[in-house]
Amino acid sequence: MSLVELSDISHHFDKPDGQPLNVIEHVNFSMYEGEIVALLGQSGSGKSTLLRILAGLIQPSKGHASYQGTKVYGPVQGIAMVFQSFALMPWLTVLQNVELGLEALRVPAAARRERAIKAIDMIGMDGFESAYPKELSGGMRQRVGFARALVTEPQLLLMDEPFSALDVLTAESLRNDLMELWQAHDTKMKGILFVTHNIEEAILMADRVLVFGSNPGCIKGELKVDLKQPRNSQNPEVLRLIDEVYKMMTSQRFTTAKAQVRVQAHIGLDYRLPDVGIAELIGLLEALEELQQKGAIDLPLLADYIRLNIDDLFPVLEALSILQLANVSEGDIAMTPKGQEFLNADITQKKILFAKLLLEHIPLAAHIHNVLQAAHGEKVSEDEFEHELEAYFTKDEGKRVLATIIDWSRYAEIFAYDYNSGFLSLEDVS
Ligand SMILES: Nc1ncnc2c1ncn2[C@@H]1O[C@H](COP(=O)(O)OP(=O)(O)O)[C@@H](O)[C@H]1O
Ligand SMILES: [Mg+2]
Repeated sequence: MSLVELSDISHHFDKPDGQPLNVIEHVNFSMYEGEIVALLGQSGSGKSTLLRILAGLIQPSKGHASYQGTKVYGPVQGIAMVFQSFALMPWLTVLQNVELGLEALRVPAAARRERAIKAIDMIGMDGFESAYPKELSGGMRQRVGFARALVTEPQLLLMDEPFSALDVLTAESLRNDLMELWQAHDTKMKGILFVTHNIEEAILMADRVLVFGSNPGCIKGELKVDLKQPRNSQNPEVLRLIDEVYKMMTSQRFTTAKAQVRVQAHIGLDYRLPDVGIAELIGLLEALEELQQKGAIDLPLLADYIRLNIDDLFPVLEALSILQLANVSEGDIAMTPKGQEFLNADITQKKILFAKLLLEHIPLAAHIHNVLQAAHGEKVSEDEFEHELEAYFTKDEGKRVLATIIDWSRYAEIFAYDYNSGFLSLEDVS
């Protein structure tokens, strides 16, 4: 029997202008008892929203989620969630924080205490019952987050980037402890569904990896991982599967490579500019040159070399693709002749080249430039552009996109921006 079933789920949020922002579209998915499934995708692709729908915290706009054959309408007993941010109450002790997990279940006080102590013990926090969160390291805090979920004796454990806020070693030790718990069968857990942006983590833990595409979020592909636990990150088969996932994420069939597809098609004002700084763009080109390979470079190799996870890497790749400074496809990246020219140029020449690329490839940059030209030297408030972007994005997202294009355009000296007044102008361009 399936533990979880998502049937044709779509979800939208309302934009400031009242129009829908489609975040998830037509997600169908079944998960079975005994499975660990990883949901892998870029930031903003709707992964957290999907987990929330499954946990009964949000009702989807369309479709429905079922848990053990029953439709989910609200929080479900048997499902527990671990968050990236730990979400602990700073004024409560470890024990009290863990007991909090049982509050909604109306467990009598004595039983609550007993179960909390057991859960704390299980996740290796024995002896810290009376400590407060601020006395604990990040890793210890997340252990409390796990204890608070485990104390409810969940059959399905949902985890939203549970290890992302931790350093590499801490993450590994907590991950190993969780996997030991899972394999010891001492708990009632029948399934784990977790969100991550760490490809290696997904391959090391999961029986199945779902690759999530963005704009709007949907399942773009699936990879079975048929390897015994515990898995070693240096195992050739693990490395091959990691490579496979990179290929899936950058293949033209997947929207995460939207950059690629759109370069050939056409991007408009609604294009969600990746959140990347100029320094990162140049940094990545430099790394490509340092790797000094003729032709294309394997993305896992590059990610390893510059020590970036995909959440940070893919936006940079997308920006380089859109600007045609690099080509990304099928898990490989290669600098274009333009990219090489840009990298070799001195700072003045770099700015001139970058200005050309922006006006040519990013409609929003060209649009702002046109508006400023039409203003004949008058300044224009960023509010006007912000307002315009509300037709395409949520307010925050629009602000973010505008901030990015302002950042890029100031570097390119296409226009000037007064930080204090928030006005843009063609003046003072030197
Ligand atoms: N409560 C909300 N109201 C409006 N927009 C939201 C809300 N929650 C998320 N979003 C938007 O939905 C998209 C997906 O968000 P999220 O599910 O958090 O993605 P992920 O977890 O993959 O990073 C983003 O564009 C985000 O800005
Ligand atoms: Mg998220």
